[in-house]
Amino acid sequence: MRRGAVVWLVAVALAACAVALAVAFFIPWLPDTASEESERISFVFWFTTIICIAIFGIVAGLTLYSVVKFRAPLDDDSDGPPIHGHTGIEIAWTAIPAVLVTAIGIVSAVVLARNSDAGPNPLRVDVLGQQFAWSFTYPQQNRITSGHLRLPVGRSVELHFQARDVIHSFWVPEFSQKQDTVPGLETTLVITPNKVGTFPVICTELCGLGHALMRTQAIVMPQAEFDAWIRERSQGGDGARDPGLAVFDSAGCGGCHTLAAARSSGETGPPLDDLASRARQAGMPLEDFIRQSIVEPDAHIAEGYEAGVMPKTFGDLPKEQLDALVRFLVESRGDTTE
Ligand code: CUA
Repeated sequence: MRRGAVVWLVAVALAACAVALAVAFFIPWLPDTASEESERISFVFWFTTIICIAIFGIVAGLTLYSVVKFRAPLDDDSDGPPIHGHTGIEIAWTAIPAVLVTAIGIVSAVVLARNSDAGPNPLRVDVLGQQFAWSFTYPQQNRITSGHLRLPVGRSVELHFQARDVIHSFWVPEFSQKQDTVPGLETTLVITPNKVGTFPVICTELCGLGHALMRTQAIVMPQAEFDAWIRERSQGGDGARDPGLAVFDSAGCGGCHTLAAARSSGETGPPLDDLASRARQAGMPLEDFIRQSIVEPDAHIAEGYEAGVMPKTFGDLPKEQLDALVRFLVESRGDTTE
């Protein structure tokens, strides 16, 4: 090949790489990372992308060079010269991709292994997915339950997932990982948040009418703030806690409903702080109204909300739990309306 041709080829290849790099880097394809695991995944992503961009540059350069250099005149209908292969090039185009693919495989395997290693002392959080709410229980912290996933920054967390009804999938875009929750199966995921902030928790498996609304937040906070939250939520311990509030939390009510007495802020379903006035509208005693609304969610539909969204599984709660929940809701309404 003449020297001029080589310069031409390299220039085209570099230009193609520059365009591809600009598209890869300057368009924010992915959310910012907020965990050690997501940074490793990001590394694999860029490792692979850079290799692809380099190959794209070579292919684009050779293609454009060939199109220009070997272009046949319009009136040339003759066949090209016969070619019987080129052992050197064939070895190169077999060996180089084999090395690159193996490299990607090794990097991925290392990242996968490190990402599933929770270390010696992870914080355990039990996650329950159900139509249509997430609830998070901290078994090492007095079994506190929350509708938000609160995590201390910088500590490995091992999430253990269970599903109450159908398959859901846990996803926080900034953590770059997804994990299905499957009825009858316990799945796990390790997250080591490394940025303080509030990130969306999204259900990413079609699970019913309320699927799009099955969202909450992951709140990553400094260790001291997390400890303070644990202390505040554990006050009095489990024994002194209102059993109805415990049911409210463990059944995941707060994932969908705002209730001041439970400090919940879900917005999928109607707020529960004005149950008294809604019972009046329905012309029912408060307690009967609440019980019916839990067991037969579609009996009364609050204005602005849709039937069929709230699951009908809460009638299956053990009777004493259901009674405690109803009593708690009857009494908590007094916290804000009187
Ligand atoms: Cu749960 Cu979609």
